[in-house]
Amino acid sequence: MSITFDKAANIFQLNTKAVSYLIGIADEKYIGHIYFGKKLDNCQGGYALLRTDEKPFVPSKNERDKAAFADAFPYEYPTSGAGDYREPCLSVRTAQGCRICELVYTGHEIIDGKPGLYGLPSTFPKEGAAAQTLEITCEDAYIGLKAVLCYSIFEDSDAVIRSVRLINESKEPLYIERVLSACMDMDDESFEMLTLTGSWARERHMTRCPAAYGKHTASSVRGCSSHQEHPFAALLTPGTTQDTGEVYAMHFVYSGNFLALCQKSQYESVRMVMGIHPEGFEWVLDPWESFQTPEVVCVYSDQGLGKMSRTLHDLYRGHLIRSPYLHKKRPVLINNWEATYFEFDSDKLAAIAKDAKEAGIEMLVMDDGWFGKRNLDDSSLGDWTVNEEKLPGGLPALVERVKAEGLSFGIWFEPEMVSPDSDLFRAHPDWAIQVPGRIPTQSRAQYVLDLSRPEVVDYVCECVAKILRSADISYVKWDMNRQFTDLGSTFLPPKRQGELPHRYILGVYELQERLITEFPDLLLENCASGGGRFDPGMLYYSPQIWCSDDTDAVERLAIQEGTALLYPLSCMGAHVSACPNHIVGRSTSFETRGHVALGGTFGYELDITKLSVEEKEMVKKQIVLYHQYGNLVREGDYYRIASWQENHRYDCWEVAAKDQSEAVVTYVQVLAGANVRSRKIRLKGLDGKAMYRLEGTEKTFGGQVLMYGGVLIEPQEGDYRSKVLHFIRM
Ligand code: DGJ
Repeated sequence: MSITFDKAANIFQLNTKAVSYLIGIADEKYIGHIYFGKKLDNCQGGYALLRTDEKPFVPSKNERDKAAFADAFPYEYPTSGAGDYREPCLSVRTAQGCRICELVYTGHEIIDGKPGLYGLPSTFPKEGAAAQTLEITCEDAYIGLKAVLCYSIFEDSDAVIRSVRLINESKEPLYIERVLSACMDMDDESFEMLTLTGSWARERHMTRCPAAYGKHTASSVRGCSSHQEHPFAALLTPGTTQDTGEVYAMHFVYSGNFLALCQKSQYESVRMVMGIHPEGFEWVLDPWESFQTPEVVCVYSDQGLGKMSRTLHDLYRGHLIRSPYLHKKRPVLINNWEATYFEFDSDKLAAIAKDAKEAGIEMLVMDDGWFGKRNLDDSSLGDWTVNEEKLPGGLPALVERVKAEGLSFGIWFEPEMVSPDSDLFRAHPDWAIQVPGRIPTQSRAQYVLDLSRPEVVDYVCECVAKILRSADISYVKWDMNRQFTDLGSTFLPPKRQGELPHRYILGVYELQERLITEFPDLLLENCASGGGRFDPGMLYYSPQIWCSDDTDAVERLAIQEGTALLYPLSCMGAHVSACPNHIVGRSTSFETRGHVALGGTFGYELDITKLSVEEKEMVKKQIVLYHQYGNLVREGDYYRIASWQENHRYDCWEVAAKDQSEAVVTYVQVLAGANVRSRKIRLKGLDGKAMYRLEGTEKTFGGQVLMYGGVLIEPQEGDYRSKVLHFIRM
């Protein structure tokens, strides 16, 4: 790993183990993108890729056609107003109302390590392992704006981490209308664009479309990263598979509004940008103030999507997730939401805990409905006092009862919200996000609290902390069940209203930071109506995130496939729930539900007291499997073998130990077929020279046979059947 500057060639070269990233400074000091791809031993000749000797030439050779140059140059960080008509990263309005900004190189620094980003989630170096950061400074001297383009690399990762810092060095305020975090200008290779799209209960489905002329986006202006689109985009060379093809990916370490955009230009170049969504955004930068963008993780893979996934998984496990639970076995939990919804009391929870303990479950999580007068979803958010009619003796009594049954205890909160029917709203109606004089739009009968107000952050923080101090609580599920409307803050002055969406997210981050600082042993699971805020930003605070409210085993295959494209399996909240499934009404076998949930953090979301004796026995067996494979699933390398989204019949994924000593393969036959024979499944990531034994049998296989030949999976009778195979190196 190294970052170097070749002064003679005017090229910065960032080298990871397998990848190089090259940036050039053109004669006129424009900063251009040269290369992101397979590792180069040296950068000789790379400067030519800036095409400054090609028409329309750099301005010094052709001042009269400067605009044409600007519209063709491969910028590292494009700005608006000076001739580049492609999508810009930066738009700045001056006090005089002009919107022209042109950045030129003024200096750089290569530093050891990687600075954190104040108030924002960010990747960090591992203790004792090397990291380096390049900070390129550029300026628009005319408006007095300095921008620092930051690039970091880690010795054990092939990702390049980018962010930007703006500093107002003028004497007047500057109005930042758009400040994205990263750009990549490349030549077109008939790319396809891969995004993750969906809806509530249908999150993160993989979507591929041609990146043809024009602009293609993934974005959110919903106040959160959203169920609908994901802060991720990748450009794929034609025919890219799990193992072949080139992938250029960007993933945003942020939880609010975002824009990911690819644009194919008139010159058949492709620009990919990512950052905070400019819609509704404006930041007033007073003299000598600075603004820090969130980070974008850039990944190049020359071995298809699989390598991209594993690069991201390792980066997030090694350099983003801070929780002490990261490498620990998570407790098998049972959550009462689908078991009881709002209708529960201490006796019901204690009964669940009793049966859960007998089956081997380790934690009871009490979901929504334990506070204020909340017997439905239409009241009490903000009133974080225990409902003693449901829970006599309050939390201490309940927690002791659950602990006496042998389980630890977890609790649900939705701290960022307020119900119109709540004491909090009656006391502080101005604490809700709203535009004075307009009736704010309700969603799930609730409003969003204005977390740009420091006193609201303090109030919310204290409410949650007070509950956590009151009893022995090991886990918090932090929910967020509505998206933004009526963007207005009664706290911010008119000229700063455009800062609200970003200030809100900074407030969320501050809340969670304070929480995990005061309760360092807490296991925090984020959630937003299922997986509506599943993003790298939230992973900085919680090691796991509830994947989706859709717990149907078949629906989950697509959701978990899309999620695992980017995130380690140890992050994906996955539970076995009752049948027929509450969202789609489908019935799947208990075994298959278990196998699918074992691909995530694992737990239960059902009324265990209502299970049959046989089903309770299956719970016990599933928990044995979890203890057997849990460490491997959490720490291993993920390989996607087959996708039922593509083949419409079966799904298959594998997790192989990093030392290749074992691998677990999950195969789900979604649809049975008539007169079909065994299917050959080829494993990946094994030691080709070693022998492996299939657990529970005397069958042995050479690693190469398993990888190049495959293993036969017999067809099963009926739909939604599954198998887990465990191979152990002999
Ligand atoms: C949405 C979550 O995704 C569910 O699991 C549950 O906690 C409900 N909210 C409670 O209101």
